[in-house]
Amino acid sequence: MAKANDNYLKLPGSYLFSMIGKKVREYGEAHPDADIIRLGIGDVTQPLAPAIIDALHKAVDEMGNAATFKGYAPDLGYDFLRNVIAEQDYKARGCDISADEIFVADGAKSDCANIQEIFSVDNKIAVCDPVYPVYVDSNVMAGRAGDYDAATERFTKVIYMPCTEANGFMPEFPKEDPDLIYLCFPNNPTGSAITKSKLQEWVDYANRIGAIILYDAAYEAYISEDDIPHSIFECEGARTCAIEFRSFSKNAGFTGVRLGFTVIPKDLKAGDTALHPLWARRHGTKYNGAPYIIQRAGEAVYSPEGKAQLKEQVAYYMKNARVIYDGLKGAGYDVSGGVNAPYIWLKAPNNMTSWEFFDLLLDKANVVGTPGSGFGPSGEHFFRLTAFGTYENTVRAVDRIKKL
Ligand SMILES: Cc1ncc(COP(=O)(O)O)c(C=O)c1O
Repeated sequence: MAKANDNYLKLPGSYLFSMIGKKVREYGEAHPDADIIRLGIGDVTQPLAPAIIDALHKAVDEMGNAATFKGYAPDLGYDFLRNVIAEQDYKARGCDISADEIFVADGAKSDCANIQEIFSVDNKIAVCDPVYPVYVDSNVMAGRAGDYDAATERFTKVIYMPCTEANGFMPEFPKEDPDLIYLCFPNNPTGSAITKSKLQEWVDYANRIGAIILYDAAYEAYISEDDIPHSIFECEGARTCAIEFRSFSKNAGFTGVRLGFTVIPKDLKAGDTALHPLWARRHGTKYNGAPYIIQRAGEAVYSPEGKAQLKEQVAYYMKNARVIYDGLKGAGYDVSGGVNAPYIWLKAPNNMTSWEFFDLLLDKANVVGTPGSGFGPSGEHFFRLTAFGTYENTVRAVDRIKKL
């Protein structure tokens, strides 16, 4: 008889964004005239930049011509894209990463969920709390997380690193040594960013204890301060302890286009086993490559026109971040983030829970945000607003919140 993977049954409740969607839908049905502004989900709103649209059109035409038609893409990505990534994202920042250490895929979510497959199920993972839920849930599905304890809202075998007001939303080295450490900077959901010297401490720590850092840099394009590293490979020794995930979703608006990449240095080992060949093998077996058309669009992100247009797009969202940050701070809220990240993390007033504040905001201001507790127990009493809305909606939303 077929048996299901029972680990899936350990996942608690419905996915955070389904819950938010349900509440907003029900509110909309009960209040059909409400003008609801959504600053909840981290999805972009600006159209693809002209340089990317041009590259897409050109690649589509190539696919319609027998002489230039492309079938399956190379498993690990086209050289034209891997080379430009190695040059501009890594060599230009002084990082020793070569094109054949870059694995192109359809986005950071699938890569950071799938990467755990190349590690033993006995590995102990450490995650920030609050955290992007994919890291924990994918390990639950694999049977690495233990059981869910409803009382603590935690999985029994996961090491949680609380990121709280007291530590400036920065994880601290856990008491128990982990094998795999998930770090995400600039951070979703708190919007915090790590300095190069702090990240160097994590790299030194991981090398010391033989752990591997799984570094999610999906929001790298939003970094505005000089001492914030864009890649973990800016740190000395990261080649022997880190894997990095990148996305085209937030820097170039590819959330609906789908493209990302993962960097695994050839000298990275788990014990005696090199990890680069394992991930290459996985790609070869389970993945048939990101589409040619999309990889050409990705290449356009690095063209002079693409870079100029995307700089403006990021600036547009960061102007929204400023509006939210300054507006709410001026209104007396405790706010952080929003400087090197498109997320603003605010404390719910009057000791309200995250969901109480969600309901209040929806009901009294018709604004949707994300309850911090949905990202982990240490997110309780906090709330995330995204800068990915339109400027007009962002200004209107902040005005409404100020009047509460
Ligand atoms: C931290 C983090 N990593 C990865 C992703 C997903 O990236 P992608 O769209 O490339 O799958 C997100 C999306 O919100 C995210 O917040």
